[in-house]
Amino acid sequence: MVTGASSGIGRRLAVELADRGAVVTGLARRAELLAEVEEVLRRRSPASGTAVVDVADTEGYREALAAVEARHGRIDLLVNNAGIEELSPVEAWPSDVYRRMAEVNYLGAVAGTLSVLPGMLARRSGVVVNVGSDAARAPEPGHGAYAASKAAVAAFSESVAHEVAGRGVRVHVLYPAWVPTAMGLSGTEDGGRLPPTPLRRSEAEIAALLLERMGGRRVDINASSVPLVAVVARAVVPVWYQRMMRRWGGGGSAPTERGRAVRPY
Ligand SMILES: NC(=O)c1ccc[n+]([C@@H]2O[C@H](COP(=O)([O-])OP(=O)(O)OC[C@H]3O[C@@H](n4cnc5c(N)ncnc54)[C@H](OP(=O)(O)O)[C@@H]3O)[C@@H](O)[C@H]2O)c1
Repeated sequence: MVTGASSGIGRRLAVELADRGAVVTGLARRAELLAEVEEVLRRRSPASGTAVVDVADTEGYREALAAVEARHGRIDLLVNNAGIEELSPVEAWPSDVYRRMAEVNYLGAVAGTLSVLPGMLARRSGVVVNVGSDAARAPEPGHGAYAASKAAVAAFSESVAHEVAGRGVRVHVLYPAWVPTAMGLSGTEDGGRLPPTPLRRSEAEIAALLLERMGGRRVDINASSVPLVAVVARAVVPVWYQRMMRRWGGGGSAPTERGRAVRPY
């Protein structure tokens, strides 16, 4: 199961899994894009398919997962990849943005994870991958809603990973660094800078990394180790770190006024 399979990282991962013979079901909201993806998946793995699902609709998402379990007997892998990202400058009082980010990015991942875990635990086998973001480890100004939703994904996933450890089930958090998808490129049209080269990854690289690492012992799957420097720097040289993040994010001014200085990753 791959959510957010209509584009970007999710689409690529779904196709790579089908290439390896997995029976893949891709979920997303845009039916016309999913129809194209379904054709590609079926050529590689005839029992694969897609379903139109909004992961923010907890009941609808749970039902979709239950339908796949009923049809195929079990779910071995769930990748909660569906995600959205919007700026949330404080001046806009963006409580609706916070709610949307939480419902899709965080509660979507929670609903998916909790739906498949009982079956996986009963079979003592299964993998859940929840897609996080380095924005959670190094939040920039103006990205509070997105960063917080991804931090929640990471904390939830890590706690659950510990809880199910030793019972045949692995739960991971994937940190994709920066990928030039629709989300990755949004905001760069108006001259926003792209992240430095060490942070750039392709959809193919992310899919390959996930296929290699998932099921392994490490909870975190990092596409780049560069953002981990931020974690160390904030502990060792916090004032320098804060200055760097404010400069990186545009000096702390409202992102809507200054435009986007650089993509979050
Ligand atoms: N690109 C990056 O640099 C980067 C960096 C760090 C983390 N990420 C994370 O990677 C994941 C994939 O993003 P991407 O870069 O591949 O962007 P993308 O091309 O925009 O893909 C996002 C996917 O999520 C789906 N989606 C969004 N809201 C949904 C909802 N409510 N229900 C079901 N599906 C939904 C979209 O499909 P529909 O619109 O058809 O529903 C789309 O397939 C996201 O979780 C993102 O936060 C990306």
